[in-house]
Amino acid sequence: MKSVVIQKPDQLVIEERALPEPAAGEVRVKVQLAGICGSDSHIYRGHNPFAKYPRVIGHEFYGLIDAVGEGVSPDRLGQRVSVDPVISCGHCYPCSIGKPNVCTSLVVLGVHRDGGFSQFAVVPERNAFVIPDAIPDENAVMVEPFTIAANVTGQINPTDNDIALIYGAGPMGLVTLQALKGVYKVKQVIVADRIDERLEMARRSGADWVINNSEQSLQSALEEKGIKPTIIVDAACHPSILQEAISLASPAARIVIMGFSSDPCQIVQQGITGKELSIFSSRLNANKFPVVIDWLERGLIDPTKLVTHKFDYQHVVDAIELFEKDQRKCCKVLLTFN
Ligand code: NAI
Ligand code: MN
Ligand code: ZN
Repeated sequence: MKSVVIQKPDQLVIEERALPEPAAGEVRVKVQLAGICGSDSHIYRGHNPFAKYPRVIGHEFYGLIDAVGEGVSPDRLGQRVSVDPVISCGHCYPCSIGKPNVCTSLVVLGVHRDGGFSQFAVVPERNAFVIPDAIPDENAVMVEPFTIAANVTGQINPTDNDIALIYGAGPMGLVTLQALKGVYKVKQVIVADRIDERLEMARRSGADWVINNSEQSLQSALEEKGIKPTIIVDAACHPSILQEAISLASPAARIVIMGFSSDPCQIVQQGITGKELSIFSSRLNANKFPVVIDWLERGLIDPTKLVTHKFDYQHVVDAIELFEKDQRKCCKVLLTFN
């Protein structure tokens, strides 16, 4: 089989590898589609501190079960599945309280262990979620990015009475937007970004109002309309954003951060306590595959709005380079396998 392997930073090869056999409790997935994410590019470029090389990248993938390991029912053969990249121990403290996404021995497919940019991938059977027939392949491959939004919104329980501000109209901002509008029916969702084309995508994904915050100050734009967001999600993840969000937020608002920057940021406690703000963080997803599959079945979200390009896996380098260079035209880029 062919696999997309990052041998070391900046060195990607499409390697011929032996077909892997599923171990006990595992299934083998014949990959059909995979999505390129910022973290794939970070591992390729050597910017992911968690990555070990050589590595088959890819943690957003969909395919068909074509072999099962010991202890796995043969009934699973042929199932269409999306794979949750989060592998957890099941018994540490975070696992015991329903947060396997921060398991003390967390393994993420495509980061710590070989992932889905491959014609075949072996994964724990419990990570392979059955996709109902009514959900097309192109939507099935998008379950993982939407689980990030499900995790974010799961922290804050949005209601139709909320006014939300999202920083960033990249894939993460857009999935969060669709969840807030489509699932939780949030009254007003405002999206801020620096790129007009991305703001246009946000508008198409249901944003009520978009602001280019490189052209105008977010603070004065919101003040002019008398808006104090009750939910703020930082899906742009610059270290300066948290303090700005604290000052823009309504009293009693909830803020969610998603960034992994190691740069310090300065925040003023008075701004938090004075308004009794709740600040949450969100990493990966905690058991959100069934949640997103349900959203898809009910037609509450529309992943096709995010997909801008599709490449055969043999052109993976072109695909990643386009993804990295052209934020104006590019959002989610898919790879086809087999
Ligand atoms: P992206 O780079 O495609 O999108 C980020 C967007 O933010 C860009 O459109 C950019 O123009 C905009 N932006 C940058 N600075 C801004 C500012 N000051 N104000 C408003 N907009 C600004 O990235 P993607 O894939 O959407 O991911 C966003 C972030 O989320 C990344 O930093 C990534 O590391 C993080 N992430 C976190 C996850 C988690 O589970 N916590 C999962 C996936 C991504
Ligand atoms: Mn991803
Ligand atoms: Zn654990």
